[in-house]
Amino acid sequence: MTIVQWDDQYSVGFDHIDNDHKKLFSILDSLYRLMADNVQDDEVNCIIQELLDYTIYHFSEEERFMADMQYPDLFQHRRRHKEFIDQIISYQKEAAIEGMAIFVAVKLANIGSHWLKEHILVIDKRYEQFIHTQNNLAAVSS
Ligand SMILES: [Fe+2]
Repeated sequence: MTIVQWDDQYSVGFDHIDNDHKKLFSILDSLYRLMADNVQDDEVNCIIQELLDYTIYHFSEEERFMADMQYPDLFQHRRRHKEFIDQIISYQKEAAIEGMAIFVAVKLANIGSHWLKEHILVIDKRYEQFIHTQNNLAAVSS
């Protein structure tokens, strides 16, 4: 059973972004699953690192996309991305303390999945709306 699952409500209308979000859902789901297994700290820390790396990669891609689209709220959006990256880094440090990794993993999976869902539905959807409006305006004026 998948605990953190992407579905159509999270689509922002651009495949490359949706695919990145699907991958983030899948990494967060892997973190949740660690709860059920008797895993070593190394394995947990490896998935936290994967989450951090992929989040950094995705945010930079998304920010470049917004810049290309001349999205006016890019600065604010970037600040929210940075806050989340800082949050993952602080959990990562906590997870490095001996015996803490699995507890931190569950906490991070929980907080991270809530953050991601809300971020997509509220914040990412704003650039979808902006681009949609720009396209409609361009179609009307051409
Ligand atoms: Fe975003």
